[in-house]
Amino acid sequence: MINKQLHIPIMLNEVIKFLNIKKNGIYLDATFGYGGHSKKILQNLGKEGKIFAIDKDPESKKYSNTINDSRLHFIHGNFSKIYHYAKKLNFIKKINGIIIDLGVSSPQLDNPKRGFSFMKDGPLDMRMNPQENITASKWLLQTKENNLFKILKNYGEESYAKKIACAIIQQNKKKPITRTLELSNLIEKIVSKKYRKKHPATKSFQAIRIFINNELEEIKILLKNVINILTPGGRLLIITFHSLEDRIVKNFINQNSNQKIIPINLPINETILSEKCNFRFKKIDKINPTKQEINTNKRSRSATLRIAELIK
Ligand SMILES: C[S@@+](CC[C@H](N)C(=O)[O-])C[C@H]1O[C@@H](n2cnc3c(N)ncnc32)[C@H](O)[C@@H]1O
Repeated sequence: MINKQLHIPIMLNEVIKFLNIKKNGIYLDATFGYGGHSKKILQNLGKEGKIFAIDKDPESKKYSNTINDSRLHFIHGNFSKIYHYAKKLNFIKKINGIIIDLGVSSPQLDNPKRGFSFMKDGPLDMRMNPQENITASKWLLQTKENNLFKILKNYGEESYAKKIACAIIQQNKKKPITRTLELSNLIEKIVSKKYRKKHPATKSFQAIRIFINNELEEIKILLKNVINILTPGGRLLIITFHSLEDRIVKNFINQNSNQKIIPINLPINETILSEKCNFRFKKIDKINPTKQEINTNKRSRSATLRIAELIK
């Protein structure tokens, strides 16, 4: 059944403005979700325009079927396979603008059956695509304590990572953790609420989710390929929700843009000179949601939108 709860698209007007939509252009929504950005792009496109939309979640695929518009072409799969899709569907170097809105959608978060929520009880799953890989619960049962510690530390920046990893492994030896609330209650006993603005399980849930969905690798592969699919002058728009994602995006844009910084003490040689000239993107802007948007949609509060343009 299609989940009726809708996702409120983040910085929708800003996305449309910076995509600089050409009436008959071709656009890519790499994270379709519940089509918030795609539908608005469609409204701004002419008859000959087209939008390719990707999402790995089968629920997004179902939702895309409810949009009756021949200009929308939905692809069910991982955005890291973008080059394969571009070759198959003939859009290499043809895309006028890409929107990548990272993270999870509201229906994924709010439906306890998906296992992303530390507030509502459900199976400890956390897969954006339940048809692939293993559930968070199964992974926690088979991972080693040191590996779990590293994931919590690196992907959650969790200062209690060691204690939490130890508690999870010990609990799993007694009785496997299979429910979201079992995990969040366990973490709540370790992380003091006094020192946290957010729920004590926020960072651990984020870390496990990033690992289960291979999120950071997926982003890196997608970014490497955007150069192959954008047409010169095409725009790249990326919305991130936490510092790990944003760092990857920021570094990618910096390394490929004309604002590359050469350390002061590095001798200038031929390689440096050619690298410096080999920039492919022009930085356009970096923006955050307005206070008004944050007031109406709390989930937008940690979002950052970065915009770059492929040089002609
Ligand atoms: C924040 S939501 C996008 C919401 C969408 N912009 C809207 O307005 O409805 C992020 C979406 O990206 C999808 N996603 C995340 N990582 C993905 C990946 N590696 N490949 C394909 N889809 C991915 C998730 O399944 C989720 O539906």
